Amino acid sequence: MGKTFAVIGDPINHSLSPNIHSAAFRELNLDCSYIAYRIPKEELAEGIEGLKKIKIDGFNVTIPHKVEMMKYLDKIDESCSLIGAVNTVTNNDGILKGYNTDMDGFLEPLKKRNVDIKNSNVLLLGAGGAARAIVAGFAKEKAKKITIANRTIEKANNLVKFAQKISLDANAITIDQVEESAKNYDIIVNATSVGLQNEPSPISLEGINEKTVVYDIVYMPMHTDFLKRAKEKNAIVIFGYEMLLGQAVRAFEIWHGMEAPYNAMKKALLGGF
Ligand SMILES: NC(=O)c1ccc[n+]([C@@H]2O[C@H](COP(=O)([O-])OP(=O)(O)OC[C@H]3O[C@@H](n4cnc5c(N)ncnc54)[C@H](OP(=O)(O)O)[C@@H]3O)[C@@H](O)[C@H]2O)c1
Repeated sequence: MGKTFAVIGDPINHSLSPNIHSAAFRELNLDCSYIAYRIPKEELAEGIEGLKKIKIDGFNVTIPHKVEMMKYLDKIDESCSLIGAVNTVTNNDGILKGYNTDMDGFLEPLKKRNVDIKNSNVLLLGAGGAARAIVAGFAKEKAKKITIANRTIEKANNLVKFAQKISLDANAITIDQVEESAKNYDIIVNATSVGLQNEPSPISLEGINEKTVVYDIVYMPMHTDFLKRAKEKNAIVIFGYEMLLGQAVRAFEIWHGMEAPYNAMKKALLGGF
């Protein structure tokens, strides 16, 4: 019998996940379908009951349910408990198990480029949900040090505490305090939502060079001002879609227990731009 998957969230109509996973099913001739299912913030419990009734095989979770969804899980993978948020769920006869594939999805493009994360000095812009998964990723890969720059300093301070708890050396500053210091870092990541509305880069990239890795997790638009400025300096640029693809590939592997068709999924994703 065919398997059914979904992505839940609100809003959900612009989600690229149905395209990415459907392309994988086509590529591998799998009898599966993947739908986008809008569940408003206050209707998560009913929404999950509905998914169980139709015997959904698995689903992705996006804004605004990533943290709230934790309550409804019967089993929690380590990636998920560490980050405190879930983006991928399996359903085995009504037993829901949660995973978080954002961390591995984030790391995948860095690993593909053989970036030496271990000895790197990292500047992370932002301290929201995605930034937390990123901090967990840098801790896992034993980065040398991370500076977390956020508009609201309290949130950066909280994330520093989390980093230290998982043995990553960290400090907090405000975005304004970054000033001309970008050149002091090996890897610079934008995990704020600045860029989504075509805003200018949140920081100056003066002084960076062709060895600096500049990674924007904002994926729409693909060419943000932040990345355009990085390219002008010949830096190593990583696009937000690469993380999106990385987390989808990992979710596919959890659900189907086989290697994901990376290129077919990438083609489908890029076709969505
Ligand atoms: N590529 C991917 O696979 C992927 C995965 C997850 C998320 N994302 C993208 O990453 C972004 C952040 O997601 P999230 O879930 O972490 O969101 P979030 O929890 O709402 O956090 C938003 C972050 O952006 C900052 N911010 C918002 N507006 C700002 C402004 N005008 N100036 C400076 N900072 C500002 C916030 O700072 P304050 O704390 O001061 O409010 C906070 O640090 C979104 O654009 C999302 O689309 C991409």
